[in-house]
Amino acid sequence: MNEQKIVIAGAGGAVGKHLVAQLQDSHSLTLLTRSRAKLATSQVATASIEGDTSSLRIAEADVLRTDTLQGLLEGAHTVISTVGASLDLRAMSDKRSFMDVDFAGNSNLLEEAQRAGVRRFVYLSAFGAESMPTAYTQAHEALVRRLKASGLEYGIVRPTGFFYVNLEFLGMAKSGVASVIGNGRARTNPIHEADVAKACAELALKEGSTEMNIGGPETFTRQEIAELAFTVLGKKPRVMHVPALMPRVMKPLIAPFNKRIGDLVEFLGYVATHECVAPSYGEKRLEDYFRQQMQA
Ligand SMILES: NC(=O)c1ccc[n+]([C@@H]2O[C@H](COP(=O)([O-])OP(=O)(O)OC[C@H]3O[C@@H](n4cnc5c(N)ncnc54)[C@H](OP(=O)(O)O)[C@@H]3O)[C@@H](O)[C@H]2O)c1
Repeated sequence: MNEQKIVIAGAGGAVGKHLVAQLQDSHSLTLLTRSRAKLATSQVATASIEGDTSSLRIAEADVLRTDTLQGLLEGAHTVISTVGASLDLRAMSDKRSFMDVDFAGNSNLLEEAQRAGVRRFVYLSAFGAESMPTAYTQAHEALVRRLKASGLEYGIVRPTGFFYVNLEFLGMAKSGVASVIGNGRARTNPIHEADVAKACAELALKEGSTEMNIGGPETFTRQEIAELAFTVLGKKPRVMHVPALMPRVMKPLIAPFNKRIGDLVEFLGYVATHECVAPSYGEKRLEDYFRQQMQA
C-alpha cells in the first residue's frame, strides 16, 4: 500500500466510481460524497466498498457548504476532484449552475486543500474548454486558472465527451428516430469513463504539474454515432437533423427558469457542430459500450 493518501471528491460519479476501483488496492483513500447511500449503489462491480476500513474512509460533504469540508483533507497528499454539476438532463431538478458547482464548489475544495497543506490537486475540465465560448466550459476554465494560481502542483485532464452521454442516441434509436444537431458532419472521439479515470489516476501519481487532452481510440461524425446506435439494435438508421441555430435560440428562453439547462443546451449545440477530436488515449470502444448497456 502506497503511503500517499488520496482524496477522491465526487467518488460516486461516473468517473469517480472508476477512480475508486482503480486506486483502492494501492492507496489509502478518502471518498467524498454527498450521500453514503448513493455511493454504496453507484460503484463498479470490481470495487468493494462496504464501509470504512484502515485504508478507506467515506465522508459526507457538500462542496457548496464549507463547514462540511473542514478537516476532511488533513494528511492528504493529493485531491482528485471530479465534482461537477450533472450533465444528465434527468438530474435537472437541482438548478444550481455550472458556475455555482464546477467553479464555486471546487474553489471551496481547493481552498480547503491549501489550508490542509495538500501537495497536488487533479481536476477534470473538458476538451477544448480553454477557447470554447460557452458558460459550461468557462466555469471549468475559471477553476483551472484559480488552481494554477494556487501554488499547489496540479494535474488537469481535458477529455472529450464521455460514452454515457451517447446513450441518448441508443434511447432515441430504440424509439425509432434519432436527432442530431446541425448537419452531423462534425467529428469527435468520445471516451469511456474508465479511461478518463485512468488519466486522472496517472496525473495523481505523477510528480510536478501536467495537463492532458484525451479522447477515445475511434473518431466518428455525429451522424455516425447516431447510426451506430441503430446498427447495434439491428435497425435501419433514421436520423433527423435539428437546425444548428436551435440551441442558441432556445438558451435565452430556458435560462430564466433553469440556468443549468440553458447553459447545457448552449454547450451541446456548440460541441455537436464543431470538431472535437483530442489525442487518442482511451482503449475502450463505443460499440462494445452500447452492446453492454443493452445487456444490462
Ligand atoms: N460527461 C461528459 O461528457 C464530460 C466531458 C468532459 C468533462 N466532464 C466533466 O467531468 C466531471 C465529472 O463528470 P461525471 O460525468 O463523472 O459527472 P457525474 O457523474 O455527474 O458526477 C459528478 C459528481 O459531482 C458530485 N457533486 C455534484 N455537486 C456536488 C456538491 N455540491 N458537493 C459535492 N459533490 C458534488 C456528485 O456527487 P454525488 O455523488 O454526491 O451526487 C457526483 O459524484 C464534471 O465536472 C463534468 O463537467 C464531463
